[in-house]
Amino acid sequence: MTRKILVTSALPYANGSIHLGHLVEYIQTDIWVRFQKMRGNTCHYVCADDTHGTPIMLRADNEGITPEQLIARVWQEHYDDFAAFHVAFDNYGSTNSNETKEFAQGIYRKLKAENLIEVRSIEQYYDPVKNMFLPDRFIKGECPKCHAKDQYGDNCEVCGAAYAPTDLIEPFSAVSGAKPELRNSDHYFFKLSADSCQQFLREWTRSGSLQNEAANKMQEWLGAEGENKLTDWDISRDAPYFGFEIPDAPGKYFYVWLDAPVGYMGSFKQLCNKQNQTPPNLPLSGEEPSAPAPDKGRAGEGFTPLNFDEYWKPGSDTELYHFIGKDILYFHALFWPAMLQHAGFRTPTKLFSHGFLTVNGEKMSKSRGTFITARSYIDHIKNTEYLRYYYAAKLNGSMEDLDLNLDDFVAKVNSDLIGKYINIASRTMGFIEKLGGQLGGVLIGNGNIASEDDHLDPITYQLTQASLAIAQHYEERDFAKALREIMKLADEVNFYIADKKPWAIAKQNDQENHLKMVCSIAVNCFRLLSLYLKPVLPKLVAQVETTLNIPALQWPDAFHLLPDGHRINTYQHLLTRLDPKLIEGMIAANQESLKSMTESTAVAKPAIAPIAETISIDEFSKIDLRVAHIVNAEHVEGAEKLLKLTLDIGEENPRTVFAGIKSAYDPEKLKGRMTVMVANLAPRKMKFGMSEGMVLAASGETPGLFILSPDDGAQPGMRIK
Ligand code: 2FM
Ligand code: ZN
Repeated sequence: MTRKILVTSALPYANGSIHLGHLVEYIQTDIWVRFQKMRGNTCHYVCADDTHGTPIMLRADNEGITPEQLIARVWQEHYDDFAAFHVAFDNYGSTNSNETKEFAQGIYRKLKAENLIEVRSIEQYYDPVKNMFLPDRFIKGECPKCHAKDQYGDNCEVCGAAYAPTDLIEPFSAVSGAKPELRNSDHYFFKLSADSCQQFLREWTRSGSLQNEAANKMQEWLGAEGENKLTDWDISRDAPYFGFEIPDAPGKYFYVWLDAPVGYMGSFKQLCNKQNQTPPNLPLSGEEPSAPAPDKGRAGEGFTPLNFDEYWKPGSDTELYHFIGKDILYFHALFWPAMLQHAGFRTPTKLFSHGFLTVNGEKMSKSRGTFITARSYIDHIKNTEYLRYYYAAKLNGSMEDLDLNLDDFVAKVNSDLIGKYINIASRTMGFIEKLGGQLGGVLIGNGNIASEDDHLDPITYQLTQASLAIAQHYEERDFAKALREIMKLADEVNFYIADKKPWAIAKQNDQENHLKMVCSIAVNCFRLLSLYLKPVLPKLVAQVETTLNIPALQWPDAFHLLPDGHRINTYQHLLTRLDPKLIEGMIAANQESLKSMTESTAVAKPAIAPIAETISIDEFSKIDLRVAHIVNAEHVEGAEKLLKLTLDIGEENPRTVFAGIKSAYDPEKLKGRMTVMVANLAPRKMKFGMSEGMVLAASGETPGLFILSPDDGAQPGMRIK
């Protein structure tokens, strides 16, 4: 029975380049989709750029362009990268589309009508210089747990602690450097804690829509039966924000993660519109697109329109699969199904989560040159199917991380693809050509295989019979197993050739028929291996199809061999070995470009004041710098810039210092801190009293003022030298 399947990959953000980490997912999905299409199933693969949110808005601002201009440019880059890696979307859209907007607003209205939206005032950091609320990632400060400096507002990269931005010590805006203020604002929440959501998600977790590992994670998030662990989800952001405005809520926008998955629907809707339009004289094409499909309508006589509701409304037998990384499981396994369910849509048939990419066993790293963009790979290695093959050889449908070991990559591609697969064609096709270009001596009947008796050679039979097991491995996304099986068969065919020695037969007289038979068997086997490899290597196999003079291979062709008399085309060299020097070149170029980027950003940095005249160590040691404990800090009535500090440096009486740091510090937060002061500065009489020293603070061209702190353990009065 023909299945009707809709498949998505996660939508990449429109503020960065596609890299090899992203490609694990797109290649995995594309292989699966191509396999489904070859099986004869109706399968649609859609994706889009994820275009909304603060980072995109700020990046456009930095570049002096509009967000729309930025996302249009990045869309084209992403589209070209995917095409180069043969990732064949049926539609590649953008979340910034009318279709996505309508669905997002429609879902929101439905959730509101279901009483699942609540408005609450929340306190949030606000950047008074940029006049905007700050997302957690744009607030930095000191980690409240380990006191590491310069940590993001949501979690610490040093100790791993997760916290609220308001827990940060001495927070500052990463956008302007200003000290953020806490302000109140109304936010819209999706009531995930509602009984109906919890109940539904518990059932959904048990419905087999998740891999075991993911289902276990869900149990953890949901807690035990009766425990209400889910909290409501904040789905709104305040202007200025690049996104969709919430209906009837001026100045409030949907948080990017609300409309991102809705982009799956928007992109599919675009595909429906595209396919259902009836352009004049457009011939129907039965061929699957080999690269992102050109935007042409495909409607015509005998064409069944693509029905959006059939794929998105409950109750139909279509299937919906989302391929995602394990880092975004939370959004896809909790928020997304709950949204769909309560807005009257169907829920996903299954989520397929995968692990992260490591390169040579480590996280991709810019300094090691292993943070490799799709473009850099294309520029240096060119053949993108090498990577498709390597990823496929490692993907097994689990959530484990996948390692791209660069030496192993070269070895595997060369030994499997060149040494085993292509070797079969290059050792036999030339002989057929010399014998007139037609196959012969091998088959009886018309080439259809019903049983082992229908042809002469056991090796061909073995290859046809493997089709079922290989199909099952593809279906289960265990591409590694499928490729192991295929390469085992390639080994068998190579043993066959080594055993028959066509080059030796060619030297004997009157052995043309024998030679033709041996080589025809090998060519038929090569065709079968090509069929099995086609989901992984679509471009190479298209060349093979041309060389073999056959129509596009489909899965059922495994039970049909090329008959005697079939004419093949001249054998052209199909694939070259992967040269390790190309990889070395790519890594070196990445390191080089990082170096020049660092240098150019160094040049682009705001000018710093020139370094002062050289002084001797004796001159320096005249300054008595001391660790000071801030015993008290308070506002000074009438003073615009000053705070009054009481500093303990181990003397009998603490010192009073007036410091011009009011714009950057709340006195309450200074109390108890350690800092550094100049203890032998002549006392100065000021309008508000005597100042007995000076605290040290850093400042520069960019906003912000930063007092110094000694490391843990320093005691009041210790000398700094
Ligand atoms: O994590 C990400 O890169 C997101 N842009 C993925 C969105 S997937 C979907 F929900 F749109
Ligand atoms: Zn920490």
